[in-house]
Amino acid sequence: MTMEADVLKIPGTEFHVRRVGLGAMPLSLAGRPDADQAHAVIRRAVELGITLVDTADVYALDDDDIGHNERLVAGVLKEMGAGFGGTPGDPQVVVATKGGMRRPGGRWVPDGHPEHLRAAAEATLRRLGVERLDLHQFHTPDPKVPFLESVGALADLRDRGLIAALGLSNVSPDQLEAARAVVPIASVQNRLSPWDLGSGPVPMVERCRKLGVLFLPYAPLGGSGKVAQVLSHPPLRQVAEGVGSTPARLILAWHLHRHPHVVPIPGASRIRSVESSAGAGAVRLEPAQLQALERAFRSLPGAPGLVRRWVRKLRGRIR
Ligand SMILES: NC(=O)c1ccc[n+]([C@@H]2O[C@H](COP(=O)([O-])OP(=O)(O)OC[C@H]3O[C@@H](n4cnc5c(N)ncnc54)[C@H](OP(=O)(O)O)[C@@H]3O)[C@@H](O)[C@H]2O)c1
Repeated sequence: MTMEADVLKIPGTEFHVRRVGLGAMPLSLAGRPDADQAHAVIRRAVELGITLVDTADVYALDDDDIGHNERLVAGVLKEMGAGFGGTPGDPQVVVATKGGMRRPGGRWVPDGHPEHLRAAAEATLRRLGVERLDLHQFHTPDPKVPFLESVGALADLRDRGLIAALGLSNVSPDQLEAARAVVPIASVQNRLSPWDLGSGPVPMVERCRKLGVLFLPYAPLGGSGKVAQVLSHPPLRQVAEGVGSTPARLILAWHLHRHPHVVPIPGASRIRSVESSAGAGAVRLEPAQLQALERAFRSLPGAPGLVRRWVRKLRGRIR
């Protein structure tokens, strides 16, 4: 089985991105690496041909540290002579940012008020040193603000030419539909990890495919804090050995094979992780290997459906 394309176009733009991106979040949260290591991780990702870097204004320790990740990403890309934000360069990279949250005391708090979204996008433009944001994503709907009020504010920024492509994150299919009635939506960034097979995220991925919306799975390897549990899961390791791949590469290859319109954005704070992930596009999987892998995902402790299947099995025995 082959993947449909190695490169995808961001809808409504002329940007083309390779199908594995970099999630820059772990470079700026608590436990982050030192500046030299953080620079080296981003630099290596770009050297290896990664052309989409996912960041956010709130990838930082707290409100006093807002913009840490955006500054880091912009600094390295500029050092390398890369182009982004409407500025030409080589290579050309898409910086996917987000606005719509705050970090008081290090907590994650949605803020979808139009004035916050405007001020946050303008601050991001200044931090990145560009006149237009390549892909700006509404970080998460704010229950205190009508969703379309937030979307309307971002649509205005797009109309003013400050945003090339608008994306949404952590949205439901209904919210996606509602937003699309107001403004073209280029991408959705929702969680899609090996734990999520057979649950809510999968229909959303399909919905995006039908609508021609790019899908950026976050936590593609299981999410920070849970990755080690996924990568050491014996059934998964067994499939990886059979394919001649590492478990992480195999999972990323699964994303690429299963959904032709996704760009997974594995987070990384080590060069080794980036080097391993960048090789995922070369892994070719046969249908039987994909099925074996999905059986392994479904057997992860806590995977949706696992309890249901146990109950069914038990009932079958009782009957
Ligand atoms: N929109 C949202 O609400 C939202 C929420 C969460 C995340 N995100 C975005 O999505 C990105 C990915 O999510 P995530 O970082 O939470 O989870 P993830 O990508 O599933 O896991 C990240 C962890 O996986 C490890 N890793 C990455 N590649 C590896 C490889 N090839 N081999 C072995 N280990 C590997 C990294 O370890 P090392 O750190 O040791 O390199 C990292 O800590 C984030 O960076 C962020 O940009 C968005």
